Amino acid sequence: MTETPPLTPPPPTTTLRGARFYEGYLDPAAQQALVVTLRGLVAAAPLFSPVTPSGKPMSVRMTSAGRFGWIADRTGYRYGPTHPNGQPWPAIPESILNIWRALSGSPREPGCCLINFYGAEARMGLHQDRDEADFTQPVVSVSLGDDALFRIGNATRGGSTQSLWLRSGDVLVMGETARLCYHGVDRIAPGTSTLLAQGGRINLTLRVVD
Ligand code: SIN
Ligand code: MN
Repeated sequence: MTETPPLTPPPPTTTLRGARFYEGYLDPAAQQALVVTLRGLVAAAPLFSPVTPSGKPMSVRMTSAGRFGWIADRTGYRYGPTHPNGQPWPAIPESILNIWRALSGSPREPGCCLINFYGAEARMGLHQDRDEADFTQPVVSVSLGDDALFRIGNATRGGSTQSLWLRSGDVLVMGETARLCYHGVDRIAPGTSTLLAQGGRINLTLRVVD
């Protein structure tokens, strides 16, 4: 039987531009279990190195799970039903869906779990998440591994921004007024977590696509 998800999420640790921040939402055992799950996903859908439409290599490596995967290449930014190798994306594992169900406040299920891997030098420039059809649906972001200096601004470019260190096990929900805020990752702090044997950071981004 499918359970109806709660529509009132628990109170966050704090909010940042309307984004709900759940510090340490995943305990160390849950983080370890998630890494094992992600190893399976990456074996099925290998990480690839995306390029921006202008041909500039992005510093993260990425892959996806779900009905849709997010792709960046010379053609543009979009969601697609298959990995660049032509295979359908693997399903989003139940343990990841459960994070969405607990915190999103949405009765819908996410169509995409984007998996970004950040090595020591990787970063993510300020951008909006706007390739989805319904901006009333939130974005749920899960951090694993090394600390990341996250920055969030406004729904238009420019103006003041706020920064926050995202640590392993933290979850950030960008919905409502935060849904279209520019955001990015200025840098990673290498060696701040022992979760990933080779170091680095993984960010999972869950989104309803259609
Ligand atoms: C993203 O916005 O695509 C990733 C954010 C993060 O890595 O925390
Ligand atoms: Mn984003």
